[in-house]
Amino acid sequence: LASIDVDLAPVAEGQAITVTWRGKPVFVRHRTAEEIESAKKVNLGDLRDPVADDARVKKPEWLIVIGICTHLGCVPLGQKVTDPRGDYGGWFCPCHGSHYDTAGRIRKGPAPANLVLPTYAFTGDTKIRLG
Ligand code: FES
Repeated sequence: LASIDVDLAPVAEGQAITVTWRGKPVFVRHRTAEEIESAKKVNLGDLRDPVADDARVKKPEWLIVIGICTHLGCVPLGQKVTDPRGDYGGWFCPCHGSHYDTAGRIRKGPAPANLVLPTYAFTGDTKIRLG
């Protein structure tokens, strides 16, 4: 299956891009220090699908997730800075009200699981290969 290379250099801190990989939207967010801190300080016992922030990123400043709600497959909002991001500052799925945090973990609403992580590797400081 196809791999794609993505250059992250143009994505400023606090910004995000969406790329299409294997027909699915992949969200790439350049997290701010506050977003990283907020993701790290969460007590895992409070999570429905408990995974530490460290285990969801390869570099703390880059969060890369498949942009499909794990409830019924809508594309959550939160990629634009002006989008609603829900109660936990990550993404908000308007279909039935799921709230994801700044690590893409489900925090509230009907979705059963965190946003899925795609297979990827860093091929440079600010370059990744998906797939
Ligand atoms: Fe996202 Fe239902 S599809 S909350």
